[in-house]
Order: sequence, then C-alpha cells, then structure tokens
Amino acid sequence: MYKLLTTDGSAKRGQFTTVHGTIQTPVFMNVGTAAAIKGAVATTDLQQIKTQVELSNTYHLHLRPGDKIVKKLGGLHKFMNWDKPILTDSGGFQVFSLTSLRKIKEEGVYFNSHIDGHKIFMGPEESMQIQSNLASTIAMAFDECPSSLATRDYIQNSVDRTTRWLHRCKAEMQRLNSLPDTINPNQMLFGINQGGTFADIRIEHAKAISELDLDGYALGGLAVGETHEEMYHIIEETVPYLPQNKPTYLMGVGTPANILEAVDRGVDFFDCVYPSRNGRHGHVYTNHGKLNLFNAKFELDERPIEEGCGCPACKNYSRAYIRHLLKAKEMLGMRLCVLHNLYFYNTMMEEIREAIEEHRYASYKKTKLEGFEMKEE
Ligand code: GUN
Ligand code: ZN
Repeated sequence: MYKLLTTDGSAKRGQFTTVHGTIQTPVFMNVGTAAAIKGAVATTDLQQIKTQVELSNTYHLHLRPGDKIVKKLGGLHKFMNWDKPILTDSGGFQVFSLTSLRKIKEEGVYFNSHIDGHKIFMGPEESMQIQSNLASTIAMAFDECPSSLATRDYIQNSVDRTTRWLHRCKAEMQRLNSLPDTINPNQMLFGINQGGTFADIRIEHAKAISELDLDGYALGGLAVGETHEEMYHIIEETVPYLPQNKPTYLMGVGTPANILEAVDRGVDFFDCVYPSRNGRHGHVYTNHGKLNLFNAKFELDERPIEEGCGCPACKNYSRAYIRHLLKAKEMLGMRLCVLHNLYFYNTMMEEIREAIEEHRYASYKKTKLEGFEMKEE
C-alpha cells in the first residue's frame, strides 16, 4: 500500500507498506543479483549502511542455486537472512542482456544459460512461478527490454507483446498467491512500461498497464544507450500517465545526478549496480565527485574517503590504508569501498526525503549537483 506523504513540485515523498515492513520513498534498492551484494557485503552489514530494500534476480537464482532449492529452504528471506523487503527482477532484462542465441515468441523466450549453455524457456508464467518460489516481497512483470537501436515498428510490436505478457503475469500471480503452499501469499506485482524513446508509445503503454491496478509501476528500457536528456524527457512525459497513488520505479538508474533529476520528475524507487561495481574498482563517491583510490596521490592521505561520513569505512580507515588494500588485492579494500558507496547512495536518499518533506527540494538538488561538479583536486 502506497501512501503519498507530501510533494514538492513533482517530487514525491511516500511510504510503501509491505508484509516485510514499510519502505520510505524515494528509495535506492541495493543490488544483490545472486542473493549477495558483490564485494563481500553480508546482509548483516545492511542495517549499518541504511539499506531498506535488497534486489535479486529471477534469472540468476533460477539457474543457481535453483528457485526450487530456495523454496525448500524457506524462501529468499530465510535463505539470505534478511527480513526486510526484497524485490526480484523478472528475468526478462537479464535474458536480453546476458544471453545470445535467444528466440522471442508469443509464449515467451527460448535462450541458453550463460553458465553452461543449456536450453531454457521462460515466459510470464515461469517468471511468476520462479519469483513465487523465491517468495520476494515484490515481483516484477516479465517484459522485453528492446535494444536502443530497435526501430519504431519493432518497439511497437514488442510493447504490445509486453502488455499481453502483463495480463498473463497478473493472472498467474493471483493463482500462485492463492495456493496453500505459497511462502508469501501477499507477493506484490509491479508492471513495467516500455516504448524506447518514443513518448507516444510510452504514454499509450502507460495508460494500458495502469488499468490492471497493480501494486506499482516501473519505467524499463531506459539508460540503455540514449542520452540523459532523452531519458529525463521520457520520464517527464510518461510518469503523469502512471497511477499517482502507486509507486514509480526507474529500473537500473543510475548516477547520483540521474537520481536527483528523476526524483524531481516523480520517481520513487531506484536500483543500480554503480555503487557496488564502482566500489569494487576502487572508485568511491563523495559530495565533491568520484575519487579513484588507486591514484598515487592517495598514498599518504590520512583522511577518510569523505570527512564526516558515518560509514564503516570512513569511521575507521584512511584513504591511504584502503588504497594499500586495493593495490594488494585484499578483499577488504573492495568491501570497504562498496560499503562506503552504498552508504553514500542510501544517505543521499535520506537527504532527498528530508528535503521534499521540508519543501526545499529544488535548492537541495542544485547545491548537491554543484558539489559533484566541484572536484576535490
Ligand atoms: N532493469 C533495467 N532495465 C530493465 C527493463 O527494462 N526490464 C527489466 N525487467 N529489468 C530492467
Ligand atoms: Zn564513508
């Protein structure tokens, strides 16, 4: 259940109540694709870095360890020891980005596993069944994320099929939620809007999926090669046609600046691999831009990554020490950088929520963006 607490311009400050607790929005979900946040971050670390929602992937967990195994072990929450909300992505996007030799048919997608190449079929029903076995809090609809190079014709046909798939997802989710051995009978379903950079296709699709009265709505197929300006334009055009009494989720986005801009256009939920991926490469976020801790200039730098940061890395260790760990390929180096980056994102979301509540979002955004431009060196 989504409750809109207040607005500031188009920015929304909301609360989304689930069986696994209430999510304060806007929120950044922390990505743990294969039921693990990369960089040796444990679910027992997440409280300290202010994680509200963990995100995992249907496709990866179906291949390994297998959703039936996870179900036998009591579902994803018990398996990974995390009792707060979990969102699972449907597999559609991963099938399109990870596997070659795939064939899209009306019934679903035929493809080969990226692990051992064996043949797999996944359609809307299979995706819902897997997500039901995983027992996440929120399941995502099975969609096609078309290439940014696809023609208008291709995208129109693809979007129409994604709409038909959505009806099948909803029916299957209702059936699964009513079965006696379902771990989470209250599993929620979010629909996904597609349409590339064609605003009219996006809007028609938004209207069509809004009629299904789902628990939330996502914008998919963005940050796939279009410019930031094009992405902001599509968000601005489409969000008004999605239900205002439901949360809006911008999938796979993005940089701190992207998030600040999307919040300003009414987005509630975000996820992205950037903080964890960059952290694993020694790239850390600060309010004065990103630092590359491999850089020689940090060799004798006794300051924390960011002065005043409350994360486990900054409270205890210097840039010089973390740089040494990274250079020595000690796992701890990556781990500290990832913890800092996730804390940075989660703290920015906290600031965003406070700024909206206090109706000063525009000035907050401006100051924050100016800070990112003012590089430390
Ligand atoms: N993650 C990022 N973009 C997408 C998308 O378009 N669809 C799905 N299912 N997941 C995504
Ligand atoms: Zn820090």
